[in-house]
Amino acid sequence: MSDVTLDEIVGLCKRRGFIFQSSEIYGGLAGFYDYGPLGVELVNTLKQLWWKAMVREHDNIFGLDGAVIQNPKLWEASGHIAGFTDPMVEDLVTHKRYRADHLAETDSTNLIELAELLKDKKSPDGNPISEPRFFNMMMKTWVGPVEDEAAVAYLRPETAGAIFTNYENVRETMRAKLPFGIAQIGKAFRNEISPRDFIFRVRELEQMEMQYFIKPDAQNETYEMWRDFAWTFLTNRLGIKSESLQWHEHDDNERAHYASSAHDIYFRFPQGFKELWGTHNRTDFDLSNHTRVSGKDLTYFEQETRERFTPYVIESSVGVGRMLLAVLVDAYKVEEINGEKRIVLKLRPDLAPVKIAVFPLLKNKPELTTKARQVYDMLKKSFGNVMWDDNGNIGKRYRRQDEIGTPWCVTVDFDSLENDDVTIRDRDTTEQVRIKVDELVNRLSK
Ligand code: GAP
Repeated sequence: MSDVTLDEIVGLCKRRGFIFQSSEIYGGLAGFYDYGPLGVELVNTLKQLWWKAMVREHDNIFGLDGAVIQNPKLWEASGHIAGFTDPMVEDLVTHKRYRADHLAETDSTNLIELAELLKDKKSPDGNPISEPRFFNMMMKTWVGPVEDEAAVAYLRPETAGAIFTNYENVRETMRAKLPFGIAQIGKAFRNEISPRDFIFRVRELEQMEMQYFIKPDAQNETYEMWRDFAWTFLTNRLGIKSESLQWHEHDDNERAHYASSAHDIYFRFPQGFKELWGTHNRTDFDLSNHTRVSGKDLTYFEQETRERFTPYVIESSVGVGRMLLAVLVDAYKVEEINGEKRIVLKLRPDLAPVKIAVFPLLKNKPELTTKARQVYDMLKKSFGNVMWDDNGNIGKRYRRQDEIGTPWCVTVDFDSLENDDVTIRDRDTTEQVRIKVDELVNRLSK
C-alpha cells in the first residue's frame, strides 16, 4: 500500500484545480472526469515526454492521429465486438452490476472459476447475485440521421485500431522497412461495468500506444526491448521510484483476446499494486484479421530474403490518466516543518505544472507589486508556467505552492527595492537564498 489514501489525492486534485468530476453541477457522471488548469498542464507534459521518447527519439517510429469513430468492420476484425468483454454479476434486488472478478478478488476472468469463487458471495448491498456472465464494453452510437442497425458505430475502445488500418498507408508514405512503429495518443471509450478508484478506471480514457511491426522471429527480443522502455521511462523520465513498481505477467485467463503474452508494470496505487502500463505480443492477430475481413493484403515482402509474411506486432500501451495518478501518488508527501504539517508534491521540476511562483511581500504596497510584476513578467517570458500570488501571508502562500509541487517561490520585499534582489525558496529543502534579479533566469534555468 502507498502512504497516501485515494481520498487525500482526490481532495488535493479538487482543491488545487487538477481534476474535477465531470458535469459536477448536475451530480457528475460515473467514470468521467475533467482536467482543470493544473491537471491539463501535467497531462500535456506527460504526453509531450512520451511523444519525445517514443516518436522523436526513434528514426523508425511514426506518429498518427486516427479518428475516434471508424468503420465498425474494424472492430469486427479486431475481435472487439465479440470478445471485448468483462465478467459481471447483477444484484438480483437492486439490479446494480458489478465486475465479477473484482467481487471475487481474483485476476481470473474464467466464468467457471468465478462462479465457484462467488457461490456464497453477496453484492456490496448484501443481496443475492446472478451467475457471472460476459458484458461487452464497446460504447455504441449511430452515424447519420437514421438510428437503425445499419448505422451503428462504436467509439474506439483502444487507439490501436486506426494504427492497424493505417499500417500500409504509413509504411508506403514513409517508405518504412521492418521493424518500424506507429504511435498515437488519443481518447478511448469503454463502458466499464464499475468505474472506480477516481481516474484509475474510467469510461472515457486517454491512451498512449505504439504498435511495433516486426518479423515474427524477432518477437522475443523486441518484446523485452519494449518492456525495458516502459520501465526506464517511468523511472528515468518521470522519476517514479522503482520500489513503487513491479512486473505482472498475465496468465491464460487474464490475457486479452489478441495477445499471446502480456506483461504489465504495476504501480503501488493507494488501493494496492495495480496495472499502469502494458506490453503485449499481439502476434499477427490484427494484420491477419484485417487482411481476412477487408480483403486487402497486409503481408510484407522482405527484399533481402525474398520472403513474404504477415508482420507480428509488439504493443506498448499506457493510460495518460493512470500515469498522472501514479505521478501524483509517488510525489505526495506529508512532512513536518518547524512543528507545522505540510503537504508537498515532490514532482520533478520538468513535470511541475507551475515552475515558479512570484509573491510581492504585501499586496497593498504599489512599489512592491510593481517590482514583483516586473520579475513575474521576466520569468514568465523564460519559463512560461509562472504563477502570481499575493494572497495571504507568505507562509500560507508557500503551503499552497508546496501542495501543487511548485519547485521555487520568489519573494519581492522591501530590500528588493534597495538592492534589486529577491528571495528564492526551494520547495524540497525550504531553504531561502537571496539573489540578484539579473541573475534569476540563469540561476533558475540551472
Ligand atoms: N491496446 C491495448 C489496450 O488497450 P489495455 O490493457 O486494455 O490494453 C492499456 O489498456 C492501458 O490503458 C492500461 O494499461 C491502462 O493504463 C489504460 N486503461 C485501460 N482501461 C482503462 C480504464 N478503464 N480507465 C483508465 N485507464 C485505462
